[in-house]
Amino acid sequence: MYYPDELVEEIRAKNDIVDVVGSYVRLQKKGSSYFGLCPFHNEKSPSFSVTPGKQMYYCFGCGAGGNVFTFIMEYENYSFQEAIKHLAEKAGVALPEVEYNEEMKKRESRRNRILEVNKEAAKYFYYQLRSEQGKIGYQYLAGRKLTAETMKQFGLGYANQYSDDLVKYLRSKGYSDSVLHDAGLVNVDEKHGMYDKFWNRVMFPIQDVNNKVIGFGGRVMGDAKPKYLNSPETIVFDKSRNLYGLNFARTSRKNNIILCEGYMDVIAMHQAGFNQAVASLGTAFTSGQANLLRRYTQEVLLIYDSDEAGTRAALRAIPILKEAGISAKVVNLKPYKDPDEFIKNLGTEAFQERLDNADNSFFFEIRVLESQFNLKDPEEKTNFHREIAKKLCEFSEEVERDNYLEAVADRYHIGFDNLRKLVINYATKTGLVAQAAKPKSGIKEKKGPEEAAKTVQKLLLTWFTEEPAIFLKVQKYITPEDFTEEMYKKVAVRLFEDLSKQQVNPAAIISMFDNEDEQREAASLFNTKLHELESKQEKENAFKDILMKVKQNSYEHYQNKLGTDVNALQQAIAGKKALEELAKTHISFD
Ligand code: UTP
Ligand code: MN
Repeated sequence: MYYPDELVEEIRAKNDIVDVVGSYVRLQKKGSSYFGLCPFHNEKSPSFSVTPGKQMYYCFGCGAGGNVFTFIMEYENYSFQEAIKHLAEKAGVALPEVEYNEEMKKRESRRNRILEVNKEAAKYFYYQLRSEQGKIGYQYLAGRKLTAETMKQFGLGYANQYSDDLVKYLRSKGYSDSVLHDAGLVNVDEKHGMYDKFWNRVMFPIQDVNNKVIGFGGRVMGDAKPKYLNSPETIVFDKSRNLYGLNFARTSRKNNIILCEGYMDVIAMHQAGFNQAVASLGTAFTSGQANLLRRYTQEVLLIYDSDEAGTRAALRAIPILKEAGISAKVVNLKPYKDPDEFIKNLGTEAFQERLDNADNSFFFEIRVLESQFNLKDPEEKTNFHREIAKKLCEFSEEVERDNYLEAVADRYHIGFDNLRKLVINYATKTGLVAQAAKPKSGIKEKKGPEEAAKTVQKLLLTWFTEEPAIFLKVQKYITPEDFTEEMYKKVAVRLFEDLSKQQVNPAAIISMFDNEDEQREAASLFNTKLHELESKQEKENAFKDILMKVKQNSYEHYQNKLGTDVNALQQAIAGKKALEELAKTHISFD
């Protein structure tokens, strides 16, 4: 069975590598990657890494590596096709009909039936809210300053005080008890049998990005507890992969998405024109949700309640967003508790101002840290500075780290060089940043010429994926033909295409190959160990060294083929010229 590339990519994108691998291997975070004991060879200390940014795994011990498909193939001993099926099902992606076996068909029709009954229930609640007995609900929502239009947009409803009317209604529509049960709409106990889960509450239908009702939240109209009752997870409702309001926010065309805590916050913000607001569903923010957001935005503004719990939740969400490649900022709403309250009191302009002045996540984290130390005490102050240094080590990119180092040193009046020393101390002590290694380019000279040629080609591909911007500066010197290994060339063609658009997606490139060995090899192209280089100068030198070696090798390769390959002459001439130009060009990482 052939699956189109877009479908394969959709399935891959919906299966976050950290989630999938994490369900088999115990992973621990270190910098921007996770490490664990390699499941493919025996080891005592972890050399198996999973990098969310690249959506790939790689073992520095045995060389096992690839994307999420490779992992499932290797671990479960599946073919590529089987891995696709397995992961499609896991992420709820429908595969083309013909491939369905009986069991999958059943599951799919069950899903559809549950979506239908949810829609029916939502319509029922909606109707109730606008009926005579729903007045109390309507008044509650109106009292919270929601307009009729907003209530309509969000499909708000009301579950009346009877606890069996929904069950009766849905049964009369032909839904079986087991469907009601699997949709999470009912409770069952020995004494009462089956009865409505929600009653005497205003109802918030929860929709997925395709506007399908996947669950409900119901709020009491007073101060009773629990304030909100939510649908349980069902086969259509995975709380860690959905966000309330995303069906609207995804088309808001704002350059950020606002992430907040609650249903009412989302609705209040949308009503005030901030239609890029979403909320996680009464559960902690997950990497699945971060990846979902990544499809729509590069920047998330966090608005969590301005209390201790909200601060903690924000601190937890920031690294999850970062791993997904999203930059996070934190909005300060003080003295108000949440957006709903803030907008009611100060209005939309003041709110927009707070969005514009959101603290970037690093400074937010430092600010939270600061509040834990008494800076008048020299010892505590030193500890605070150490903590800053530790935080700075989380930036894997040197330029970024230096920029933050400078900014934070400035803001907190710490000497730049002193802080830098602390960073280096911390980094070397914990092995976060490898000490400058020889040779600087990371090429092991012991190997034979062919091995060395392969190594530099790999290194160059890894450099490009890690520093996509540098590609634009050197693209006139390098072509996929310079990769003399057939397979590397294939990867380079695709990677260069992506890079010229500055969209790097190495994990997708791996799916171009359908056998494990090729996938493993392709993964190694993006995971060659680059030595952490101390200065910008070293970095530039190392990069240029590698680029020149690749060009030199390519030039020699085509020279040897003169007379047997029609393209060789052209390649050799162009190669020589590029080498000469490169030799006198300074490639800068600025
Ligand atoms: P909040 O208490 O901040 O809710 O909880 P809210 O949406 O702002 O509600 P109002 O303004 O008091 O009406 C944030 C979110 O946590 C979940 C809900 O998803 C809520 O929107 N929650 C809260 C529950 O699931 N159960 C609860 O009892 C309370
Ligand atoms: Mn609230």
